[in-house]
Amino acid sequence: MQLIVTEDYREMSQKAAQIVADQIRNKPDAVIGFATGSTPLGLYAELIGMYDRGELDFSRITTFNLDEYVGLSREHPQSYYRFMWENLFSKINVQNERIHFPPGIFTDAEAVCSRYEEEIAEAGGIDLQILGIGTNGHIGFNEPDETYTLATHVVELAEETIEANARFFHDKAEVPRRAITMGVKSIMNARSILLLANGKSKAEAVSHICTGVVDPKVPASILQLHPHVTLLVDREAARLIEMKGEAAWSHSR
Ligand code: GLP
Repeated sequence: MQLIVTEDYREMSQKAAQIVADQIRNKPDAVIGFATGSTPLGLYAELIGMYDRGELDFSRITTFNLDEYVGLSREHPQSYYRFMWENLFSKINVQNERIHFPPGIFTDAEAVCSRYEEEIAEAGGIDLQILGIGTNGHIGFNEPDETYTLATHVVELAEETIEANARFFHDKAEVPRRAITMGVKSIMNARSILLLANGKSKAEAVSHICTGVVDPKVPASILQLHPHVTLLVDREAARLIEMKGEAAWSHSR
C-alpha cells in the first residue's frame, strides 16, 4: 500500500487527477471505477480541466460506478447516476454507451446484481477503482458487518450513513434506506485502487486501514490485502495513522 499525505484537499485532488490521467494515457481504453460523494468532486473538476485544455481524452474509457440508491431513477436529482452526469460525465467526452451503473429501480435484485458483475467481467475487469470512504469505514455502500459480502448486493444503509448523506437531501426522511453496491470482491478484483479521504471526520476510518488488521466492521480495512492500493489523504485525514502492522508501506509527501 502506498500512502501519500497531502497538505490539503486541493493538492489531494490534483495528485488524484494525475494518477487517473496516467492510467488513461497508458491505456486509453481503460476501465475506470468511479465513486460518488463529495470527496472526489475536486478530482472530477481537475479531470474536466484536463479535458478542456485538450490534455486528456476519455473517448475510449469504460466506466463502472460503485453504487446507487434503491428506489431512485436515473433522473432523480439525488441519484448517483445524475450526480456523475452533472459533475463529470456531461463535461468530458466519455461515450454514453460505455457508462455503467447498478440500477436503482428493479424487480429482480439477484438478476441485476449478477448482471452487473457480468458486465464488469465482459469489459475485462476494472483497471483503476476510485474510492471514497464513509466515516464508518464503508467503501461503496459496503457497510460494517460481521462478515464481508463479496458479490454485488442490496444493502440496508447504516444509520450513520443515512445521517452523513442527509446533507444532499431536503431532509433525512428522504434518504433511501437501501442501496445496491458492488461487493468487496468486485472492488478487490480491480487491478489498482485509489482511495481518497480528506478532513478530520475521516481520520479514524483512515487509521483503521493502516493497522494490519482486516475487520469487516471497518470494511475498508480489506484494502490492506490488495497489492496495488494508493491511499491519498490530506493531512487532517491522516492525523491518526500509526505506522504499524504488517502492511508494506511506502510513504511519500
Ligand atoms: C457514500 C458513497 C461512498 C462515499 C461515501 C463518502 O455513502 N456510497 O462511495 O465514499 O459516501 O462520502 P463523502 O465523500 O461525501 O464523505
